[in-house]
Amino acid sequence: MTTTSVETFSQKNVLLNGEWRENENGNRITLASPSNGKEIGSVPALTEKEVNEAVEAANTAQKEWAKTALHERKQLLFRWADNLVENKEVIGSMIMQEVAKKKSSAIDEVVRTADFIRHTAEEGLRLTGDLLTGDSYNGGPASKTAQVSRVPLGVVLAISPFNYPLNLSASKIAPALMTGNGVVFKPATQGSLSGIMMIEALEQAGLPEGLVNITTGRGSEIGDVLVTHKGIDQISFTGGSETGVSMSQKAGMVPLVLELGGKDPAIVLEDADLDKAAKEITGGAFSYSGQRCTAIKRVLVKEEAADELVAKLKEKVEALAVGQPEDDADITPLINEKSADNVESMIEEALDQGAELISGNERQGNLLAPTLLDKVTTDSRVAWEEPFGPVLPIIRVKGEEEAIQIANESEYGLQASVFTQDINAAHRIADQLEVGSVQLNGKTSRGPDHFPFLGVKNSGLGVQGVRYSLLSLSREKVKVLNE
Ligand code: NAP
Ligand code: G3H
Repeated sequence: MTTTSVETFSQKNVLLNGEWRENENGNRITLASPSNGKEIGSVPALTEKEVNEAVEAANTAQKEWAKTALHERKQLLFRWADNLVENKEVIGSMIMQEVAKKKSSAIDEVVRTADFIRHTAEEGLRLTGDLLTGDSYNGGPASKTAQVSRVPLGVVLAISPFNYPLNLSASKIAPALMTGNGVVFKPATQGSLSGIMMIEALEQAGLPEGLVNITTGRGSEIGDVLVTHKGIDQISFTGGSETGVSMSQKAGMVPLVLELGGKDPAIVLEDADLDKAAKEITGGAFSYSGQRCTAIKRVLVKEEAADELVAKLKEKVEALAVGQPEDDADITPLINEKSADNVESMIEEALDQGAELISGNERQGNLLAPTLLDKVTTDSRVAWEEPFGPVLPIIRVKGEEEAIQIANESEYGLQASVFTQDINAAHRIADQLEVGSVQLNGKTSRGPDHFPFLGVKNSGLGVQGVRYSLLSLSREKVKVLNE
């Protein structure tokens, strides 16, 4: 892959119908760094006509791609992964500049994405069909045989969020390609420069013409055209719950996988190893400044353990480095001013409602200090809403029943953590939590990426994870042999 310097302004074009193209009308979106406001690049704002062309191109190319051998698909994906790793510094540097992710995590994202792509390619080889022999119903003859195979869905629309511009894009595109689909990729606008670099690596790996098409442009402008397009056969979306729910109402009968927001609780019982709990909760709540769907977004701690846990959390939170992504600081500027304003207002409201400030609540531009709030009450917005920023509310509870009740009252149901040394209590609580996954004595997180990843309620629909994504991006096809 030819590496692109990201020291200067990167004027990127889109891959449309096998060609790198500017858009017809010349309208572009200029992107600035969330850290310092410096312009870092621009992407085309596609028109409806160009979006239509993207879907049509994917549709045409998919017909041939569906006939290719699985080994051929696997080889393409492996070459793509190799190109990404070869260019991890330059792509990581773009992620760092574009979404203000700390440098080491941005490079890790590139490597994690390559690992995901390789694992998907390997697992895709193992998707097998089935042969069912007939049984005799209603006394009829048992002479039928069903040959069940997996076939592609057609054209997959992959829409990704800003916070993992590579990983949450490739985790849709790789399984879609491995199962024989064409792809229309709509990256998050803030994240599209990194997303385009990822597709440059794929194209240079030998991507067939027209099979993957990039549609840049604001979701508010081209989103409906994409989501309601008759040529789209599946939508795989990761992003906010509001966007996802509205999309599901417009998509009609088109199958959807939605990975949405969360309000993951960490439930801490009095017998927990509080040093471990404090370490895991700090990492879970504050990595990438809390801009993760799986971030721990509230602590529900038994009164008896609360003072000690708060003291340990304070020490850990105050040790976090606050600064710029290129300095590899733990807490970096939020994605935009609107997001920083929202987090700040949640903190102020909680303090007005009687919460106690343990540390933080300082701001410089989009950079917010990690903020720990104790004695937060359930009438506070921060007890229920997703801040997507570095604030952790602590709610003190009387017992596990109250913790479970507050956890389940949420509109979200992504993940939860339970900290206790009583294995029976851990299972008892986990069994009652209305979430996709429960972490016992560990922070909430999506990986390893072959585990099933899902949310219930407003946190999502369907399942992702290597094998699960391969299954959701293909379908059964049955041929019945009659004697
Ligand atoms: P977002 O605002 O919902 O945007 C996500 C994607 O949807 C972007 O590509 C966006 O494009 C696009 N979009 C916006 N409006 C659209 C529309 N009407 N039709 C079609 N597409 C549209 O989310 P975000 O701010 O990027 O990400 C933060 C949210 O994502 C948080 O709530 C977080 O919890 C959630 N998230 C969930 C997971 C998970 O796996 N559960 C993972 C990561 C993030 P533009 O950028 O052009 O607006
Ligand atoms: O932001 C949502 C991502 O799916 C979270 O992934 O737990 O690996 O940070 P992560």
